[in-house]
Amino acid sequence: MGLREVTPAVRDLVATTQAMMQAGKGILAMDESNPTSSRRFAKLGIPQTVDARRAWRELILTTPGLGDYISSAILYDETIRQATADGTPFLTVLAKAGIVPGIKVDAGAKELAAHPGEKVTEGLDRLRERLVEYRQMGARFAKWRAVITIGKEIPSRACLEANAHGLARYAALCQEAGMVPIVEPEVLMDGDHTLERCAEVTEAALHTVFEQLYRQCVVFEGMILKPNMVLSGADCPVQASVEEVADVTVKVLLRTVPAAVPGVAFLSGGQSAELASLRLNAMNVRWRGKAPWVLTFSFSRAIQQPAMDLWRGEASQVAAAQKVLHHRALCNGMARRGEYRPDMEAR
Ligand code: G3H
Repeated sequence: MGLREVTPAVRDLVATTQAMMQAGKGILAMDESNPTSSRRFAKLGIPQTVDARRAWRELILTTPGLGDYISSAILYDETIRQATADGTPFLTVLAKAGIVPGIKVDAGAKELAAHPGEKVTEGLDRLRERLVEYRQMGARFAKWRAVITIGKEIPSRACLEANAHGLARYAALCQEAGMVPIVEPEVLMDGDHTLERCAEVTEAALHTVFEQLYRQCVVFEGMILKPNMVLSGADCPVQASVEEVADVTVKVLLRTVPAAVPGVAFLSGGQSAELASLRLNAMNVRWRGKAPWVLTFSFSRAIQQPAMDLWRGEASQVAAAQKVLHHRALCNGMARRGEYRPDMEAR
């Protein structure tokens, strides 16, 4: 069996990954499902309505200079169809800012039968048709998130394999539709597990995912991996240092992620905004020239949350919230280059 031919379709996928992995930029995740968005709004007393969600996403997308640090944005089905208050489609706003649009296509993580405490992501039914529609609308990439929980005797092989299989089937369908798949197997930071345990589980999850991607004939050059950083559990009494997190994360990736994959864009997973920037920066400083892939961000909370805390649904706070959002995008753009410094936070 020889190397598969590089077709024009594959060249298009590669071109999209290059646009997404531009120097000094990362991916903005703004694809929260309505229930997730409602949970975040409820905590801040923001009405959980279509219009509030539209207003928040308008605030994000019209942030001046956003495209300086954001290469691409992951949208949600509701959002990709929306427009600013003056009627400009969000997709037009993104095009003007030079930001590549993408779309979340999974239908969420559901209880895995016969495996208490574990989940499997659904959404393969009619996915082929949905991808064709999104591609026609202008989306150039997609995202699917699988969730792996660490606990006593979990994750099970059944959970790792079911999720990896779903991710691989999704990724193959994306490439068939001319869209770059963002493959997101998220090992959650919830729990009191150690850094070592997170490393072990992340390594097993990524091995399983890449084996399934290979079996489903996914072209590695035309995909992006969106993993968790390897962290001590949020309730673990011993918290690993920034340098330990950076080194263990990259070592796990080196063992599991083929060099043909052009980019790794981390999720933030509930880390504070500053820690997420510090840890990404440390990876890019300490592994400069030694990691074969781009190491960048695809954060939702670690970019949006500080700005949302300020906005709280108030029109009078839009400009101030946009400044904070821009600042987080800038800090992460710097971390992507290995040029972030904590004193950048003192504004
Ligand atoms: O799927 C998860 C999001 O795209 C990333 O969200 O950075 O808040 O973990 P997060």
